Amino acid sequence: MTSTHLNYETLRDIFRDRRLPLAFVDLDAFDRNADFAASLALSSRKTLRIGSKSLRCLPLMERLLAHPSGVFRGFLTFTLEETDYLSSQGHNDFVVAYPSVQAVDMDILARLTLEGRTISLMVDHPQHLEVLDKTGRDFGVVICACLDIDMSYRPLGSDRLHLGLRRSPIRTPQQALDLARRAQDCSHVRIDAVMGYEGHIAGTNDDLPGEELKSAFLRVLKNASVKELTHRRTAVIHSLQAEGIKLRLVNGGGSGSLVSTLSDPSVTEATIGSGLYAPGLFHHFKEVKYTPSAFFALQVVRIPKEGMLTCAGGGYIASGPTDASKAPYPVLPGGMRYLDLEGAGEVQTPLLMPPDAAQIKLGDPLFFQHAKAGELCERFNELYLIQGGAIVDKVKTYRGAGYCFL
Ligand SMILES: Cc1ncc(COP(=O)(O)O)c(C=O)c1O
Repeated sequence: MTSTHLNYETLRDIFRDRRLPLAFVDLDAFDRNADFAASLALSSRKTLRIGSKSLRCLPLMERLLAHPSGVFRGFLTFTLEETDYLSSQGHNDFVVAYPSVQAVDMDILARLTLEGRTISLMVDHPQHLEVLDKTGRDFGVVICACLDIDMSYRPLGSDRLHLGLRRSPIRTPQQALDLARRAQDCSHVRIDAVMGYEGHIAGTNDDLPGEELKSAFLRVLKNASVKELTHRRTAVIHSLQAEGIKLRLVNGGGSGSLVSTLSDPSVTEATIGSGLYAPGLFHHFKEVKYTPSAFFALQVVRIPKEGMLTCAGGGYIASGPTDASKAPYPVLPGGMRYLDLEGAGEVQTPLLMPPDAAQIKLGDPLFFQHAKAGELCERFNELYLIQGGAIVDKVKTYRGAGYCFL
């Protein structure tokens, strides 16, 4: 079950008479997560880059930039169009975390660079460099690039057992140097940043309730991987620096790896996104604890039989390997369960209810969390913001602002 200080009756009263479905963020929990991440960054004297894909709501990202600690700096964005949007809203300091080679994106990248924005696009292949170099020549500008280093774990030393994401093919200091040298041969490209994202550490729960043995095993594996990747990331940075390459930043990590990422001496900043909403897949880390803050509410529209309620909509399935963990997490009232044959559906979601939920009537809300963070915002135009048990604001998601970037 999701831990939230909110209870069913309070939430039902807060949203009484509002149109359902709706989504909301509990600012008390959001701020607590921001404070927690900020305290880790402050104690390591590093900064936090906002992982925009995991928030997808500009007012909430601006809330982070205004955090009194001052540690939230810059955006790790997910497309160039999105970066353009953030720039048009007066923001700066971008690392675009995923490569692109298409012409419309290159036009944006060149224009933002010409406008004086600080922006680096992810590269991990000679062809990426060629496209950036041509763009730079066409527009008469030097384009900045961020070198993506694969941080996954290969305990057998070969590709046969690859624990982690399939992002960059660049793993070793020599491979990083080879690509950096190719960039040096390009007159209009400059590598000014490095990212080594340990997604398998940042996104794998390792403190699962009722699964102590599995969790302990995962922690052993994660610890071994952190040791190896920290060593390798540091070696990559040293070899680039020895080549005379000046880096404005070395980015790593994500919500679930903040402690280990921030303690890597080669890293200058860590990314945080999901931990601020703490969706269903971000509840059970040993080293970091986040409080669920982003939820959605569905309307009860049917009572197929005693002990069962059916909501309108609700099939907001998350991306990734398609297993049961990608369905929304029923939160309040506690003890709700999906039907095996129906699950969370496109137009209706039936739920087996706990006995003490008998007083719930047609028209009442049931509360859920999305399994992942930013994807919730692709389903809703607005997020209600609640604080101290009351609605204090309503803000637009990217979707509500008229954008769908990926
Ligand atoms: C490149 C990169 N860095 C960092 C993150 C971590 O973000 P979060 O804090 O949302 O886990 C992600 C998420 O997928 C990512 O793709």
